[in-house]
Amino acid sequence: MTATRPSSSSSPSGLATACACANIALVKYWGKRDARLNLPAQGSLSLTLAELTTTTTVHFSEALDSDALYLSGQLVAGKEVLRMSQWLDLVREAAGITHRALVRSANSFPTASGLASSASAYAALAVAASAAAGLALSPTELSILARRGSGSAARSIFGGFVRMHRGERDDGTDCVAAPLGADDWPVRMVIAIVGGGKVKEHSSRDAMDHCAETSPLYAGFLAAVPRDLMAAEEAISRRDLEALGQIAEASALAMHGAAMASRPATIYFEPATLACMARVRELRRSGTLAYYTMDAGPHVKVLTDAGSAAAVAGALRELPGVSEVLVSAPGGGTVLVADAAPVEAT
Ligand code: DP6
Repeated sequence: MTATRPSSSSSPSGLATACACANIALVKYWGKRDARLNLPAQGSLSLTLAELTTTTTVHFSEALDSDALYLSGQLVAGKEVLRMSQWLDLVREAAGITHRALVRSANSFPTASGLASSASAYAALAVAASAAAGLALSPTELSILARRGSGSAARSIFGGFVRMHRGERDDGTDCVAAPLGADDWPVRMVIAIVGGGKVKEHSSRDAMDHCAETSPLYAGFLAAVPRDLMAAEEAISRRDLEALGQIAEASALAMHGAAMASRPATIYFEPATLACMARVRELRRSGTLAYYTMDAGPHVKVLTDAGSAAAVAGALRELPGVSEVLVSAPGGGTVLVADAAPVEAT
């Protein structure tokens, strides 16, 4: 397979395929300042992961009456397709086309389980759909387009450590992600899948809105983000895993604390989540640099160094309730896949 950078590409055939890596936030995005443009209330910071990928083919065709989405070969119905369709309207409007699209997507990891599937989904869609529609967008423009689908997707356009900027403008043109470099830093993310990767109860979108509306701790979460972002960027520039890890844990706990204080509560943790967190603290006491973070699901992601990753994975694998453990190196930005097999539009 040949991969190319996404910018300045176009596809007169109406067909394009892209591959995106998921990302895990180390400073969390949780809540919006504008729901229509999907502008986050604060910035965030993440690590793009090589092992968690989404590959998506978009085919705009006049033979189609409506947009259709196949996930791992299964036709998807309901609000996910409506959301995609409304997002595809942005691409159609920018390209001046009216054709509907057939979208085929496959993840290398359990979908909708808190493993950041919407991040890689909308990053891959942004790169594939814009190329299929004949638009030549810069990486920054692709980040804005991906953000309209999902806030975390703006970060997956780029590889490695990525900073998402809150932006100040009402139109969201300065609300974009940018890579932070540090590609030489051999960090790893160990991912403990808790509970078999089943479908999550509360989507991050619904849960963050509910938290913003009802949680007395939401304001406290938001207030901590700017200094966490600054400290995390400094830690990355110093290659200081201990400092970065401490911020990542604190940010995740602030997010979950605010979510748990929502009324009614949003609780993503399961007993095995807490067991993983305790195991990570134990590993640290014995000298291993390892720090946990959790998103809108029960899984535990552990930031560590390349030399410790196998030992951390082994320790988490032994815990009851942990069904699978993956180890991932940092991944690259979203790319067009040049020679993907064509799909039929009917
Ligand atoms: C907990 O990006 O899924 O993973 O913008 O509404 O689609 P929408 O939300 P989404 O939220 C991600 C929340 C998180 C933290 C993060 O990735 O920063």
